Amino acid sequence: MGNIILTGDRPTGRLHLGHYVGSLRNRVKLQNEGNYDEMYVMIADSQALTDNFDNPKKIQDNLHEVILDYLSVGLNPEKVTFFIQSEVNALTTLTYYYMNLVTVSRLQRNPTIKTEIKLRGFDESVPAGFLSYPVSQAADITGFNANIIPVGDDQLPLLEQTNEIVRSFNRIYGETLRECEAYLEKDEKAQRLPGIDGNAKMSKSLGNGIYLADTPEEVYKKVMSMYTDPDHIKIEDPGKVEGNMVFTYLDVFATDEQISKYSDFSSLEEMKNQYRSGGLGDVKIKKVLYEVLEELLEPIREKRKYYEEHMDEVEKILKEGTEKAISKANETLANVKKAIGIDYFE
Ligand code: TRP
Repeated sequence: MGNIILTGDRPTGRLHLGHYVGSLRNRVKLQNEGNYDEMYVMIADSQALTDNFDNPKKIQDNLHEVILDYLSVGLNPEKVTFFIQSEVNALTTLTYYYMNLVTVSRLQRNPTIKTEIKLRGFDESVPAGFLSYPVSQAADITGFNANIIPVGDDQLPLLEQTNEIVRSFNRIYGETLRECEAYLEKDEKAQRLPGIDGNAKMSKSLGNGIYLADTPEEVYKKVMSMYTDPDHIKIEDPGKVEGNMVFTYLDVFATDEQISKYSDFSSLEEMKNQYRSGGLGDVKIKKVLYEVLEELLEPIREKRKYYEEHMDEVEKILKEGTEKAISKANETLANVKKAIGIDYFE
């Protein structure tokens, strides 16, 4: 069997630069390399409901933001099947059968789930749906026979859990499902882009993100407010590069070519050295970063604008993709039922 790529996001907010360098950029690369038979990108609205069940409007609104973000970064509907998780009933049925193959304590020990339960303050009152979303994620992956999963490293425990379910299933019911592998961003600095305030996580609730759909004015304002070195007060003061968000971002986003285009330095290293020894002001380095980010964001914004003005096209992409996903997942469900021996009318 050939390579089948699948990945997805919960539609709980617009996508930001952290998503871009941590995962979206990789997906576009995989898409363009073409070393696969099928590629799926799923909007995981059912999974998003597991901790937003009391706020479905949020998910509904962001579903459209996320598909626009996907299309605007260059994911191509002719190569990628986009679909909506909740429309694919077979995934829910698969989840139900897979639930038998994991224990509650194993789910409670899943490091991603553990962290998320703490973060959400669920404590003892964690909803069963939330606790078991890793099982549903196993259904998402195996439902499409996917073997390559481009995700951030926070998802590794979920893929491990998927593979455990696959092995249990195959052992009990016979060889039916295949295991998957994460496809991670190789640049460690890009894997976890901090927020503009220096917080380790870029997130909506912290209000420290730069979004793909931000206007140039918003980007400018955010870059100008970035956390640098609090001890670098006067321009002639020596400044710290480590932990300075402007340099952290330049490390991830800027090429030396861009540095020499937008500054008097010929490389980022040279610029860092000047900052370290003093005489280089924050506004100057921020302006360079702004230009670098705009070079990336401008074409994304243009594409987004096109699709925002052609929402009928976007709806069609989602609808056709979802139809394809439904028939594919139904095939897997039929195989699974056959393996278990509950395909009574076949
Ligand atoms: N858990 C992923 C996230 O929070 C979303 C997701 C759901 C997913 N199903 C998936 C990712 C299957 C990869 C494969 O972003």
